[in-house]
Amino acid sequence: MSLIKVLDTTLRDGEQAPGCSMNLKEKLEVVKCLERMHVDVIEAGFPVASQGDFEAVSAIASAVTECRVCALSRCVTSDIDATWKALKNASSPRIHLFLATSPIHMQYKLQMTPAEVLERAKKMVAYARKHFGDVEFSCEDATRSDREFLLSVVQGAIDSGASVIDLPDTVGYATPWEVEEMFRYVLGNVRGASDVTFAAHCHNDLGLATANTLAAIHSGATQVECTINGLGERAGNTSLEEVVMSLLTRKDLHQVDCRVDSTMIYRASQTVYNIIGQKPPMTKPIVGRNAFVHEAGVHQHGMLANASTYQIMTPESVGIRDNGLVLGKHSGRHAFEEYLKELGYRLTPELVQLCFEQFKALCDRKKVVNDADLRAIVTHNKVTEVTAPLEGGYELVRFVVYTSNFTSATSTVCLKKGKEKMEQVALGDGPIDAAFKAIDNIVKPKEHTFDIYTINSISEGKDTLGDVMVKLRTDGHSYTGRGLSTDIIEASLLAYLSALNQLIAAEPL
Ligand code: KIV
Ligand code: ZN
Repeated sequence: MSLIKVLDTTLRDGEQAPGCSMNLKEKLEVVKCLERMHVDVIEAGFPVASQGDFEAVSAIASAVTECRVCALSRCVTSDIDATWKALKNASSPRIHLFLATSPIHMQYKLQMTPAEVLERAKKMVAYARKHFGDVEFSCEDATRSDREFLLSVVQGAIDSGASVIDLPDTVGYATPWEVEEMFRYVLGNVRGASDVTFAAHCHNDLGLATANTLAAIHSGATQVECTINGLGERAGNTSLEEVVMSLLTRKDLHQVDCRVDSTMIYRASQTVYNIIGQKPPMTKPIVGRNAFVHEAGVHQHGMLANASTYQIMTPESVGIRDNGLVLGKHSGRHAFEEYLKELGYRLTPELVQLCFEQFKALCDRKKVVNDADLRAIVTHNKVTEVTAPLEGGYELVRFVVYTSNFTSATSTVCLKKGKEKMEQVALGDGPIDAAFKAIDNIVKPKEHTFDIYTINSISEGKDTLGDVMVKLRTDGHSYTGRGLSTDIIEASLLAYLSALNQLIAAEPL
């Protein structure tokens, strides 16, 4: 059985999608999940995209111990040099070069002739080999490229030292049988195919990314490029969870192995959704709320007789547990820590203590505290500064809001900075607007835009925790704040303050 390697590009192709940007702390949290899941390669970013991207790639390169770290680069020497600088501390670095090979991209985007593209590909792969032992070369928009030209570029890249050849369906245009034919043609005609890895990188514009990826495997591709939850440009990339579970569930058909520990899938999915402040669509395969729910009577009857009647994989196989929380307000810290370990979290003693205190407080406010609540508490404390304001930042002391459907809302907010307490009142278009304006009257922040404001409920029930995410932007930098509370106004204020504290710390007024 051949081994299918998984390259996860959540932090590069996924993160470049609108609404999916992550700060370094958040990226490192995703990295931990990917390492524990045993993906083979983590694509950490595009170092020349921004200084922040460069720093994130360097930090990830230094942090990762369990797998290969790769970064994207255009076929220009300055990109390659920068990518080397960003990756030089990685234990197994890889550069991922890309250059478009389709007529439309060459003519309108690159303004290069096919001969120039071929020359550039060969030259830049050879240049990259001076620094890197492992060079991946992607023929961008391969599925819309002329087959013979594609073959000549692939041959040139292999002859110049590429170790991985990727044939992406960049615009999600191809069908599974076209992908299968393309891989069969290239693998069957290129010299040295057995010495390199062939990769599939499919976008999901027509909902075919997973099918196209499986088709590529069928024709000999042994690396799949995907993202957690299928994040990515436009309709996204191939979802890691779909491909991995398809390979495992239909091993009889695919006859391949992969190293991914599928029981980490749910945890990784929840972490990424928590970070971007979204919930999975209800019917999302593998990780959606209904993915393992059987509602129809006839289905339930079949399930009771034998689960395999309507269930092709078990929730446990992707890490979804029975929600049998046995902890309550009388549980001790030790039992709490053990339970977090069962959920897959290994936290520092300080973080355990912080989460424990919040868990106890939540038990007083909410009838049933479940795994989703615990995951939200842990993720918040790991990823954000919600409950530990930045040194010298503003803290929420108390707030009051009056709101109705016939007058403006009014809010009074009291904040603390060091020992000093400050209070302001503001009117607004609704309670959140009024409370945010009261905060602005105290903080007087630099002008900024609100990129994102989302409220999600963590679990069912009226007393659910509200999970608020706020993203502010000023001078090209974005600042993410998170707030978690059974009171959505409190959660909103905590999220806004957290983002403002970061904005202020970055640029003192
Ligand atoms: O979709 C694509 O073609 C890409 C390349 C940069 C590999 O993301
Ligand atoms: Zn892509």
